[in-house]
Amino acid sequence: MSKASVYVTRLIPQENIDALRSEFDVEVNMEDRALSPAELKEKVRGKSAVVSLLTDNITGDVLDAAGPQCKIVANYAVGFNNFDLKAATARKIILTNTPGVLDDATATHTFTLLLSVARRIAEADKFVRTGKWQGWSPMFFVGLDVDRRTLGIAGLGRIGKNVARKARGFDMRIIYNDVQRDQAFEAESGAVFVDKDTLLRESDYLTLHVPLLPETRHYISTAEFKKMKRTAVLINASRGPVVDEKALVEALREKLIFGAGLDVFENEPSIEPGLMELDNVIIVPHVASATPDTRIAMGNIVVANISNVLNGRQPVTCVNPEVLKI
Ligand SMILES: NC(=O)c1ccc[n+]([C@@H]2O[C@H](COP(=O)([O-])OP(=O)(O)OC[C@H]3O[C@@H](n4cnc5c(N)ncnc54)[C@H](O)[C@@H]3O)[C@@H](O)[C@H]2O)c1
Repeated sequence: MSKASVYVTRLIPQENIDALRSEFDVEVNMEDRALSPAELKEKVRGKSAVVSLLTDNITGDVLDAAGPQCKIVANYAVGFNNFDLKAATARKIILTNTPGVLDDATATHTFTLLLSVARRIAEADKFVRTGKWQGWSPMFFVGLDVDRRTLGIAGLGRIGKNVARKARGFDMRIIYNDVQRDQAFEAESGAVFVDKDTLLRESDYLTLHVPLLPETRHYISTAEFKKMKRTAVLINASRGPVVDEKALVEALREKLIFGAGLDVFENEPSIEPGLMELDNVIIVPHVASATPDTRIAMGNIVVANISNVLNGRQPVTCVNPEVLKI
């Protein structure tokens, strides 16, 4: 019997590819670039499973191009705003993601940005490299305190909670907003549930960990910046469109807030004009989960999902569970 076929839209760790190859006929896009929508449709044609990235929009058109034998699209990411859930469910296609295994890496990266903005690390590094350093001075590159300051978390899910746990080491006061309260976590961590307004007004550091949904698009825009402290720092390692980037450039330029640390952008890989010229922002290219162990662990979930579904078993992490009842 011929093996079921799997298409992988971009190179993931070799051991994950090898695991897929041990069971299936696997084709991988070896060019290290995102496929165009037309290329994607062409490549997924006739495949039983697709491994997608957050840069691949999995629309009804793409699923139709794949064909009725396609059983699963497995995202190599925890966020799944690139999926058209309704279109997949209507076609009885299972969609999966990689929750949990990237919490530590993403939360550590969040703290890396937070500390770097607070202590002006990127700006100071550039200062030394450009030969401007004349020697030690007491009033030189004074940044912000982190210890015992208030950390605001928007979206206290897996990653938000991990950030809260890491913040304990800095003795930070933790406030959060979410669509649902988690009283067990409040008891464990001392985190305090607040409304969005209070979160904006009281946070010294505001970090975003909501998924990208219609309700969270531009969760932070001009009105929100106006409510924040002038000394506040905004960190975004969720999804770019959660922050209105035009409003952010304006807020940073006008010093409505102290600074920002960004892992994600509204129109990746394009950066909003004006952002790069500012010193009070740190810009990194969507690398929050980029550690070796994390990337392999993400791939292990992808492999388990595809193996289970193509062998007639339940997926490990389904994001459109209603499809399992059809
Ligand atoms: N930068 C990166 O490389 C990277 C890496 C991992 C995850 N992410 C992003 O981080 C997001 C969070 O990941 P997670 O695993 O913690 O997800 P999660 O589902 O565990 O947590 C999300 C939390 O946000 C809350 N939420 C949803 N809508 C909200 C709203 N309108 N207001 C307030 N809270 C709301 C949910 O109730 C949930 O508690 C992902 O969706 C993904 O987009 C980015």
